[in-house]
Amino acid sequence: MTDGPTTALMRKAYARWAPIYDLVYDRLTEPAARAAVNAAVACGPKVLEAGVGTGLSLGYYPSHAEVYGVDLSKDMLRRAQDKVEKRGLTHVKSLQVGDVTRLDFPDETFDAVTAQFIITLVPEPETALSECARVLKPGGEIVLANHFGQPSGPIAAMEAMASPVVKAIGWSSAFKASRIEEWARRTGRMEVVELKPLFPGGFFKLMRIRKRA
Ligand SMILES: C[S@@+](CC[C@H](N)C(=O)[O-])C[C@H]1O[C@@H](n2cnc3c(N)ncnc32)[C@H](O)[C@@H]1O
Repeated sequence: MTDGPTTALMRKAYARWAPIYDLVYDRLTEPAARAAVNAAVACGPKVLEAGVGTGLSLGYYPSHAEVYGVDLSKDMLRRAQDKVEKRGLTHVKSLQVGDVTRLDFPDETFDAVTAQFIITLVPEPETALSECARVLKPGGEIVLANHFGQPSGPIAAMEAMASPVVKAIGWSSAFKASRIEEWARRTGRMEVVELKPLFPGGFFKLMRIRKRA
């Protein structure tokens, strides 16, 4: 895979994050990851985890699931592979280096595609979402777990001020859920069916986007 400059930076950043990622994020992201996994498997067993990272969510799937993971970072994936082997997670069928904007799967492969804490990091989120939609079966869902900035009001103003700090830890408040809603409308085929606040205090959200059958 040929890397653009942003992709190369992303790989470098996650090579540094990989050894400490679970310590920092496990407890904080667990409720959102569990909610995303439950919503994904409700669509059917075959699930793609786009940006699977160190595989924090892989243990939350039921044993009848068939999970495929892709991530840009070999360092993050190595940790995911360790979890699969140490915990005997036989429902994980493959973990591959890959870019969510150029997925190496045929059209209409998955019942659900989940992307947890990645969509606001990708330089071309609409391209990533269109790729996720391409590999989804009709009736399937893209399930996102993420922080999205408030649309307006005093909290939005505070978020705008804190934006560089929040961005430094990977959660951009400048990125609003409405950007994804607009993308879905433009496709004419995808529909946002749920946007739900999650722990902590609604800071993370679950977004389900269904591909019309
Ligand atoms: C904040 S981590 C989230 C990891 C995991 N989903 C979780 O919830 O613990 C973001 C992950 O997205 C991956 N990533 C970023 N851009 C990507 C892309 N274009 N394609 C695939 N993975 C990407 C990073 O390498 C990193 O592992």
